[in-house]
Amino acid sequence: MKISKILALAMLASVFIVSSVFAAGMTGGDVEKGKALFNDPKSFGGTVSCSSCHPDGKGLGKAGMKGRTEWKNPAGTYKSLEEAINVCITAANKGKAIDVKSQEMKDMVAYIRSLAMEMKHEMPMKEKKMGY
Ligand code: HEC
Repeated sequence: MKISKILALAMLASVFIVSSVFAAGMTGGDVEKGKALFNDPKSFGGTVSCSSCHPDGKGLGKAGMKGRTEWKNPAGTYKSLEEAINVCITAANKGKAIDVKSQEMKDMVAYIRSLAMEMKHEMPMKEKKMGY
């Protein structure tokens, strides 16, 4: 009796863990792959890496935060993070824009969102006051 109860609980727990891992995988890309793309000058057929202007993602802490509705780079203002990424790819990296639904884009977004999380932990108070 008891053992079967424990087994049932263990099964329930593992189903829960597996499904949450799947959910995480489905919503986004791979942070590490995004980071690799970010640091490689040839990622998008371009000549400079994202990190040459945003070393270690510096300055992009705000870009990945939830609740953002506008992103800015020297070329203009954009309504989605994907678009802002693509503009930096074409205007700054001199590369080719990528499909917003591609795995590469998901990986890039995942990496940039991960920067926001790091930033929240580091400086929660300053966040609100920072502007462009
Ligand atoms: C030539 C330099 C340069 C390169 C290369 C570059 N960027 Fe940018 N990017 C900027 C500048 C300048 C801004 C304006 C905002 C700022 O000051 O950070 C910006 C803004 C952004 C923003 C919007 C930030 C916000 O909070 O609104 C994102 C996202 C971004 N870049 C992603 C990337 C990605 C991804 C790459 C690589 C594909 C890249 N950038 C390559 C110069 C560059």
